[in-house]
Amino acid sequence: MEIINFDVYGDDRGSLISLEHFKNIPFNIKRVYYIFNTSSGVSRGFHAHINLRQVVIAIKGKCDFHIDEGRGMEVFTLNSPCRGVYIDKLTWREMHNFSDDCILMVLASENYDPSDYITNYEEFKGMANVKVR
Ligand code: TYD
Repeated sequence: MEIINFDVYGDDRGSLISLEHFKNIPFNIKRVYYIFNTSSGVSRGFHAHINLRQVVIAIKGKCDFHIDEGRGMEVFTLNSPCRGVYIDKLTWREMHNFSDDCILMVLASENYDPSDYITNYEEFKGMANVKVR
């Protein structure tokens, strides 16, 4: 997991951020999706990926991330369009405490593939232990 701070091109008209592969995004972007209108009290995620890498940006609002790369859970808040979190393969993620206005944009290194998901935390821990050892 790595926080990426994006350069902001600002002038008296406002602000602009550009996301480009191999400039500030460490993979070729094959897919973009965004999560919005999240119902009150809902948490999402609860999985890891075998191969997929992602950069997640709260382009509006905020939510809390719980991330485990195999060494235990780390918690942080994403609350700025100027910052993203890079999530490597074999990383467990949960998103909690979405603000009503939260729009979470996700850049993904691969097309959507349901077989790439690990949805069992114990299974994930087993695979992550092999990786960090
Ligand atoms: P899901 O993986 O459950 O979202 P979360 O990461 O918050 O747990 O995805 C919700 C639904 O959207 C599910 O039916 C699969 C579908 N989906 C796609 O069709 N394409 C995608 O790129 C993604 C991420 C999800």
